Amino acid sequence: MNQTSIWQQILDHSHRADPYPLYAELRKTPVVRVEDGSYVVSTYREIVALLHDPRLSSDIRNLPELAAGASAQGPDEGPATLPPSFILTDAPEHDRLRRLLTRNFGPPHRPDRIDSMIPHMFEIVTSEIDGFVGKDRSGTTRVDIVDDFAYPFPVTVICQLLGVPRQDEPRFQAMSDAVVRAGDPSTGGIVERQHRRAKAVADLGQYFAQLLDARHGRHGDDLLSGLLSGDGDETPMSPDEILSNAALLLVAGHETTVNLVTNGMLTLLRHPEVLDRLRRGDEPDLAARVVEELLRYEPPVQFLSNSRNTLDDIEIAGTTIPEGSPVVLVLASGSRDPDFVPDPDRFDPDREHNEHLGFGGGIHYCFGAPLARPETQIALSELAHRLKNPRLVVDPPPYRASPSLRGPRHLLVDLDGVN
Ligand code: HEM
Repeated sequence: MNQTSIWQQILDHSHRADPYPLYAELRKTPVVRVEDGSYVVSTYREIVALLHDPRLSSDIRNLPELAAGASAQGPDEGPATLPPSFILTDAPEHDRLRRLLTRNFGPPHRPDRIDSMIPHMFEIVTSEIDGFVGKDRSGTTRVDIVDDFAYPFPVTVICQLLGVPRQDEPRFQAMSDAVVRAGDPSTGGIVERQHRRAKAVADLGQYFAQLLDARHGRHGDDLLSGLLSGDGDETPMSPDEILSNAALLLVAGHETTVNLVTNGMLTLLRHPEVLDRLRRGDEPDLAARVVEELLRYEPPVQFLSNSRNTLDDIEIAGTTIPEGSPVVLVLASGSRDPDFVPDPDRFDPDREHNEHLGFGGGIHYCFGAPLARPETQIALSELAHRLKNPRLVVDPPPYRASPSLRGPRHLLVDLDGVN
């Protein structure tokens, strides 16, 4: 099997439940050029080097062909294109936008923001689990961990953080789905996907513009209000920058966490000894270690494929990636590289060192990690404590389409009630 056909198989839905043997094949050639001209990088050392290399840009405006595609303005005269959100920019533009958001998000400027959400996270999770069985708490019940739990939970949290009304979910969900689909290389060519992505982000921007208009300048304690009030000595975000970064936070804030919680429950049900330890609750840092190991072993973001491109020729692992080439970093393969982690295919929350790539690395290291970690720890601990005798109904479960943002579409579990 050649490297290009391995990559095709990874993109193919039939391998979604277990892409890891294919990643092992891929790592035999750490850097490989695939059919669409992208360079796919699959080994830990090379991925880390590139995540920290300023010659690898995240800004598609450097690739004229892609930049032309990334206009939201099609023949149907849709909404105008917004400036790129900070995930799609390089320093120094990136750093200014990220600093402005950090000031309003969490530690060190606003540690209270996430801390104050923790009791609310417990409330949401408690009421979702109560809802599994209605008033009758015993008897066999079948639940879908995705639709009944892992999806609504982070949506509610990110809405609260941004000051978005929870009942607007049906309005923003289709646009959010469209952003995710545009990141899926199996749905079309790079240029066409960039266009779809820009269109979906512009639609989300329009939604946020209407939301802010309806507030008539009244500010609350949410993150959007913080951005609008623009305190500090940095040049504040322009109105369009606020819209595109709000869209990024809304999408990134839930489309990833849903998969980590679901991958987590699936992995725990396949490793009942770890589920039992979590249920007993006598190891205070176990939930945190389980979540870090999940980010290594079953990460929601399998690879970064949207926008990375080379600003210069880059020589890596004996291959020269020419200037102006799209690059795909296969984070999930790097985190299972046996040269970096012993016994990589074993789920082991007791590992001493776990420098996984689940949240990326370098200047784009996940901005939402301080929120995603407690969310997932609370979700999995409460499921472990409260579900009586949970059993998987279908294994492997059906998966969502995307190979890059990967997770089950449904996870059916039978229970004998809840505690
Ligand atoms: C960036 C993963 C949750 C917001 C990233 C990146 C990864 C990642 C791999 C790097 C992207 C790149 O280098 O291009 C995850 C996972 C999550 C999660 C696995 C959940 C388990 C969240 C949440 C938020 C968020 C809850 C929002 C509150 C962001 C943003 C960036 C980012 C804004 C871009 C950062 C930058 O460009 O500086 N995330 N994420 N993420 N994430 Fe997350």
